[in-house]
Amino acid sequence: MSAGDAAFDAAFYDDLDGTLAELWAQLARGAADRRSGFHTVQVATAARDGGARVRTVVLRGVDRAGGTIRFHTDARSEKCADIVAEPRIEVCAYDGRAKIQVRLRGRATVEAGDAAASAWAATRPPSRVCYRTPFAPGSRLDSPGAADPGPGARDPVDAEAGRANFRAVLVRVESIDWLYLAARGHRRARFACDGRGWSGVWLAP
Ligand SMILES: Cc1cc2nc3c(=O)[nH]c(=O)nc-3n(C[C@H](O)[C@H](O)[C@H](O)COP(=O)(O)O)c2cc1C
Repeated sequence: MSAGDAAFDAAFYDDLDGTLAELWAQLARGAADRRSGFHTVQVATAARDGGARVRTVVLRGVDRAGGTIRFHTDARSEKCADIVAEPRIEVCAYDGRAKIQVRLRGRATVEAGDAAASAWAATRPPSRVCYRTPFAPGSRLDSPGAADPGPGARDPVDAEAGRANFRAVLVRVESIDWLYLAARGHRRARFACDGRGWSGVWLAP
């Protein structure tokens, strides 16, 4: 069944609780399935110069019960410094097949301890390569390929190399803006978490 089918709509179309359940299920699929439209998300931060920054990251974990999502990054990246200075961030994703946009607002923390350790342990070897480079993300290079990983980086003597640069970013989601583009009428809803549970209202699309 495809996203455009009426029967697909029926489960959540005019149903706030159903929409909330669908939303978290779609996010969980995004973290688990690289073919999902929610596998990558855009993370917006307030930069320290007062401007905005946005970039793509891979959604790595979704915990509906805890109301959190997780992505991984390099401790030396600009986004880490942005988050430490201003933890309120927004995450946006659009699944073109499902015709669903989600925008998550929340507070992010850059985790170096237990949360990062378990995430690192679950990270496959190819994903570890980028954390081994001596070049911080965004640092200036003298030649375009200066930061290319050599053969040693892909097959390191020490499998833990790069661990010190690895961070898990946990986002405690506080509110969610959902937009579903449907031919028979778009549906938009906002959900907020008061610490005990979620409540939702419909919004004009
Ligand atoms: C498809 C895709 C997936 C990406 N995934 C990640 C990721 O999971 N973590 C990450 O730190 N950067 C990821 N990046 C790179 C970021 O978009 C960004 O260029 C980099 O992290 C530097 O961002 P910053 O300077 O704002 O910190 C990804 C880029 C693309 C295009």
